[in-house]
Amino acid sequence: MEKKYRIVTYGCQMNVHESEKLAGILHARGYAEAAPEEEADIVVFNTCCIRENAENHAYGNIGALKKVKKAHPGMLIAVGGCMTQQAGAAEKLRKKFPFVDIVFGTHNLEEFGALLDRKLGRKKAVVDVWEKEGEVREEDISFRTSYPNAWVNIMYGCNNFCSYCIVPYVRGRERSRAASAVVAEVNGLLDAGYKEITLLGQNVNSYGNDCGEVSFPQLLRKICARDEKFRLRFMTSNPKDFGEELVRTIADNPQLCRFVHLPVQAGSDRILRLMNRKYTAKEYLEKVEMLRRIIPDCQLSTDIMVGFPTETEEDFRATLDLVRAADFSAAFTFVYSRRSGTVAADMEGQIPEEVQKERIMRLVELVNAQTREKSQAYRGKTIEILCEDYDAKKGLYLGRDEYGRMGYFASGRDRIGQFVQMRVTDASGISLQGEISEG
Ligand code: 5AD
Ligand code: SF4
Repeated sequence: MEKKYRIVTYGCQMNVHESEKLAGILHARGYAEAAPEEEADIVVFNTCCIRENAENHAYGNIGALKKVKKAHPGMLIAVGGCMTQQAGAAEKLRKKFPFVDIVFGTHNLEEFGALLDRKLGRKKAVVDVWEKEGEVREEDISFRTSYPNAWVNIMYGCNNFCSYCIVPYVRGRERSRAASAVVAEVNGLLDAGYKEITLLGQNVNSYGNDCGEVSFPQLLRKICARDEKFRLRFMTSNPKDFGEELVRTIADNPQLCRFVHLPVQAGSDRILRLMNRKYTAKEYLEKVEMLRRIIPDCQLSTDIMVGFPTETEEDFRATLDLVRAADFSAAFTFVYSRRSGTVAADMEGQIPEEVQKERIMRLVELVNAQTREKSQAYRGKTIEILCEDYDAKKGLYLGRDEYGRMGYFASGRDRIGQFVQMRVTDASGISLQGEISEG
């Protein structure tokens, strides 16, 4: 009988795509996807450690599998990803959960198949977390699950060491993929009918810095040289490296979405300095201005954090001011989470939870008000949606516009993978509803 797997993913799109790679490895070994965990021969946890709650969530779910495994003695449990890559984490995990069979890290994720083979040949658990980055692999091993959208890594790791962030410790230094390999992968996906490609890297603007041949804007131009309709996105850009050449590249190439994710984190210069972000609020806003001057219809999203050590009410108000001034169309908001091993974890002046909670509520309120206001501008407009799914409960198709805004519509035909023109009929919520002409 066919063996079945289940992958549980935590964290960002980088992790979602890495789970597609793990799925590819499992498919190559004859496994098929299992619906409920109880039916799986192997359950893989692809973890995240960027904030404490992501970590707690994973710990809780791994713990809950102990009983399930007891009832299914042949079941294998594997834990990998950012959490296991932290110093001492693999040992801690083994102690806490002795029933886990395989522990691997981010650096040897692509070796997962070999680890699984090793485990199948013995009783003892296989624990293998590399301290150093593995070689950059160029072949596409993913089993993709998000048609018509596809993710493509252009680089791995991060060199920025923002003082709050664990990523540089668990994902190592920046390593770029060869431009020719990225272009070939994107072309292969477009040939296969994918319509929206998102290039992934912790800081895409430093693409190529480590190998020096092709810069990020040049890479984008190479991809856009293919003269056909598709959407190209990228994330994430660090504002300190975000420049005019990139903006002009977006302006010149219709495939590039007029939408940039530019995490600001905070609006107070003192906090930005303590975060080691290497820009001021004024410099950030100047970049936003430059972007809007060159591409007037461009929209922005961001990441913002509250409650960083020593953040005062005045610092926090500077963040609110910046949110108003930058006029984001979407923002991911976070409460600062103390990550052991980072510079900020040892700073004096950690902020009490009640203060953090109060600030995040005020921030979310402002962000939601801005997002709703942006929805109003959609009233009566016709927008282009790339249909990505069908919501059986609602009986409606759904997809996103160029700016990432979700739109729902009815259709008598399968629309997944098609660009449709949708006339917006309801813009009262964060997602839109509309009608398409079936002609
Ligand atoms: N606590 C809270 N949020 C964090 N982020 C990164 N590290 C932390 C942390 N320790 C947020 C940043 C980043 C996003 C991916 O996660 O805003 O841009
Ligand atoms: Fe973390 Fe900063 Fe690197 Fe982003 S740029 S992954 S926030 S260290």
